[in-house]
Amino acid sequence: MKKSKIFVACDSTNISKIKKIIKHSSNTKLKFGYKFGLEFLNSKHGRNFVSKLKKKVIFADLKLHDIPNTCVSAIKAIKDLKFNYLTIHISSGLQALKAAKKVSGSIRLVGVSILTSLDNKELKEIGFNKEVKKLVLHQAKLAKKAGLDAIVCSAQEVKIVKKIFKKEIITPGIRFNSNTNDQKRVLTPKQAYKNGADWIVIGRNITKGKIRENIQKLIDHLNQ
Ligand code: C5P
Repeated sequence: MKKSKIFVACDSTNISKIKKIIKHSSNTKLKFGYKFGLEFLNSKHGRNFVSKLKKKVIFADLKLHDIPNTCVSAIKAIKDLKFNYLTIHISSGLQALKAAKKVSGSIRLVGVSILTSLDNKELKEIGFNKEVKKLVLHQAKLAKKAGLDAIVCSAQEVKIVKKIFKKEIITPGIRFNSNTNDQKRVLTPKQAYKNGADWIVIGRNITKGKIRENIQKLIDHLNQ
């Protein structure tokens, strides 16, 4: 059977903690990739650490959100790190997405749709008139138009996105315990895969507390 694919969100500034995450998740029944975001990549030793990682699937969750020229320059500036995946907010606009795609080369450019920490009420607060599902569908069309390689959305929207976006789908907002923290649109790992997610992203449910035990809990949940 194909291994379930999980990106562990390495949200810490502590190198030993990150090393522990990588060590404890290797050689398990699951396929792990490692997601480094704003916290780790902006930390003093983060960039250097990532530059030395070998034979790992690396996801740079930089969530670019800027004008086309700045997105392009940022991608050129991190190209030496040979990331496998890099995120850009779809709301950066079609021109920025196309420009970024032009220079991203072998890095898979991932469009981030509406953040999983937002619900309809908060979208209204920001000034959006459409509800989450409609906005995500709209953004998936834009990602397709720009030729992006993958989309980040909540597992609740995978079925909708899949209708028009045929490449990889990556879903954060995954919980296999009852603590949702700051996330609003959550589903369990099992539900996310059932809906058609290619990769799921899990941070705190794996990295807080005992990592090996958490991974075992995840395996048990998937085998239920
Ligand atoms: O700890 P938790 O599992 O909530 O972590 C989710 C990770 O996925 C975080 O690193 C967060 O930045 C990222 N993410 C997200 N929602 C998105 C895009 C990325 O939670 N829409």
